[in-house]
Order: sequence, then C-alpha cells, then structure tokens
Amino acid sequence: MLVSKKVTGAINQQIGNEFGASLQYVSIASYLSEEGLIELSSFFYKQAEEEREHAMRFVKYVVDSGGRVEIPAIPAPRHSFKQVLEALELSLNWEREVTNQITALYELAVKESDYLTQNFLSWFIKEQLEEVSTMDTLVKVGKRAKDNLLFLEEFVARHGDKLRAEGESEE
Ligand SMILES: [Fe+2]
Ligand SMILES: [Fe+2]
Repeated sequence: MLVSKKVTGAINQQIGNEFGASLQYVSIASYLSEEGLIELSSFFYKQAEEEREHAMRFVKYVVDSGGRVEIPAIPAPRHSFKQVLEALELSLNWEREVTNQITALYELAVKESDYLTQNFLSWFIKEQLEEVSTMDTLVKVGKRAKDNLLFLEEFVARHGDKLRAEGESEE
C-alpha cells in the first residue's frame, strides 16, 4: 500500500472539508445575490467551484494511491448573515482553518515518512497562501467600503479576475 490507512482516513476527512467549503461558498454567493451584489456573488460561485476541484484533487489522490474514498457527512453551511462583511469574515476564517487542516495533514505525512503525500500536499500549501490572501483582501476592501458596498462590487468587477488569477497555483 502506497499510503497508510491513517493518512487515507485523514484525507477522506479533508475531502469532506473541501466539499463543505464548496457548499458554504454557494450559500454565501446566493446570499450576496439576494443582496444585489452580483459581482461579489459570482466571485463566490466561482470560489465554490474551485473548492469542489480541491475535493476532487484529493479524491483522485486516494484512488491513485490505492485507497478507498469514504466521503464523510458534510455539515450544513451557514445560510444567514447579519451583514455582508460577516460573510466575508467567515470566508477568511474558513480559509485560515483549512490552512491549519492542510498543515496537520502534512505533519501526519511527515510523521509517517510518507513522502508521496508530502509531495502531493505541497500544491495545497501554496494554494492556501493565495486563498487566505485573497479573502483577506476582500475583508480589507469591504471594511474600507463600509456602508457603500457598491465600492466593493466595483473592486471585484475590476480586480476579481486578477485576485483569482493570483489565487490559481499552477499544476
Ligand atoms: Fe480548498
Ligand atoms: Fe479555499
């Protein structure tokens, strides 16, 4: 077996976390759409797709390494927010949490002298730096925009692709 049961089990949990992130971002995107913030909403719909791709990357790794994919129950995402900034802050905290989850996975792989998994995870470590940085920027701009969230819309319309492009780590 290329990867231990313990590591595969931890990766299966992470598959759940990534699908959970995808659902959370769909929920946030629909809330933003309800608020009339179309640009920000579409940014989060795309983010949701990206999280699904993350989950699938882990799925493929488990399959390729001869393990069994066991997707855990995904908790329901949050669907009500007092204000837009709260949803953005939730996303930033989420990305910070995911960074910790990936780090913990990496530490487990180090403990098990599992170089294959360490190598696989290095893409995610780089990706998380970008994800946290993107969400951090959105929160900062959101705070600066204060009550006029159309500034934030304008920002995402102008720079959303750039933010996203920076967030896309190459293969
Ligand atoms: Fe992710
Ligand atoms: Fe993410």
